[in-house]
Formats: sequence, structure tokens, C-alpha cells
Amino acid sequence: METIRGRLSHFLDSTELQARLNHYNRLTLDLGTGDGKFAFCRADAFPSHFVIGVDSCRENLHEYSRAKLPNLLFIIASAQTLPHELHGLASHITINFPWGSLLESLLNGDDRLLQGLQSVARWPAALDIRLNGGALAEQGWSLEDGTERIFENLTSTGWKIRPPEMLDSTALRAFPSTWAKRLAFGRDPRAMQLSGSL
Ligand SMILES: C[S@@+](CC[C@H](N)C(=O)[O-])C[C@H]1O[C@@H](n2cnc3c(N)ncnc32)[C@H](O)[C@@H]1O
Repeated sequence: METIRGRLSHFLDSTELQARLNHYNRLTLDLGTGDGKFAFCRADAFPSHFVIGVDSCRENLHEYSRAKLPNLLFIIASAQTLPHELHGLASHITINFPWGSLLESLLNGDDRLLQGLQSVARWPAALDIRLNGGALAEQGWSLEDGTERIFENLTSTGWKIRPPEMLDSTALRAFPSTWAKRLAFGRDPRAMQLSGSL
């Protein structure tokens, strides 16, 4: 699979990945990681956890992927075709403020994404998905109805998801991701969080 550090790509196989993961028994996978700030903050705050940020777009990743943290890695991949090297590794999966095809797949119950989440998860993996009103509106959904649809798609594939929680501008301001900050100071500072586990 293709990893990125700054502007440099490196192809990492399972053996090299396992060597990096040695001594870490928890792994967070952040899908649609954007510029990787959330993954960086998590790796920095929890040195005993390994964190992998995944995004299909490499341009935004140049800055945070330069960070010299031993427990942080960034992968260029689509969330619908996650590399097989990640199978069975994630004790925690996060998807923060998805847009584009990632959000579309959550809304449509796309098997490639939902089966991918199951296959990268290590039971009993935790899952946190944060959805924002503007991105859902672009796909023709209200915040409430889009959240409900995604809730149903996840529960139908075996995730035990708790009732959604509203995130207001104060919660968004405190959340360590670039998109959360933009939303907090934007026109529609509302988001919903879906959390649960396998
Ligand atoms: C609104 S940004 C959020 C970024 C970050 N999670 C944050 O909170 O700052 C959505 C991200 O999802 C990524 N994305 C969209 N579709 C994707 C897909 N199918 N696979 C992987 N990443 C995807 C985009 O490239 C973008 O970086």
C-alpha cells in the first residue's frame, strides 16, 4: 500500500507494517483524514496507540505527514478499497466530516465501504462518525435524516450504534480537526456524532 511522508511516497508491505506496529496494541484508523491534523493530534496525545490516517487525496497531507511521530502513518487509498494489509487491525475507526464519495457510500450503504469497515476492524472495534449539515445538504439530505440513514446502514451490517448526539459550535471548536474548526466558524455550525462498536 502507498504511504506518504511530506511529498514522498513509499510502498509498505505487510511485513514492514507489522514491524512498525510491534509493541502497539491499539490502532486508530481515521478515514477521510483530510490534512491529517486529527490523526496527528491523536498520535501525539496517545503515544501508546498507533494512528493511521487514510485519504484518497494526497495534496492536503503534505504538512502533517512530515511529523516525526513513530506511531503515525498516512496512507493514500480510497475508503471503498482499503488495502488488504489493514485487515483485522483497527481497534478504533473514525470518520470525521466526510464529503464526496465517502459520504455518498455511507448514505447509500455501499457494500465496498461497509464490508471494508468490517474487515479492517478488530473486534470489538469502536466506531465514531461525525457528520455535518452542509455536506449532507449537498447530497440532498437534512442533517437529521442523513444521520438516521447512516445509522440504519451501520446497524444493518452489525454495528451497535448509540442514538446520535448533536455537536454544536462549542463542541466543534474544541474538536481537533481542521474541518471542525471551519464548520464551527461557518454558516451552519451543526454536526451529529454516531458512536458505537462491533
Ligand atoms: C471535509 S474533509 C474532512 C477532513 C478531516 N477528516 C477533518 O476533519 O478535517 C473530507 C475528506 O474526505 C476525503 N474523502 C472523500 N471521499 C473519500 C474516499 N472515497 N476515500 C478516502 N477519502 C475520501 C476527502 O479527500 C477529504 O479530505
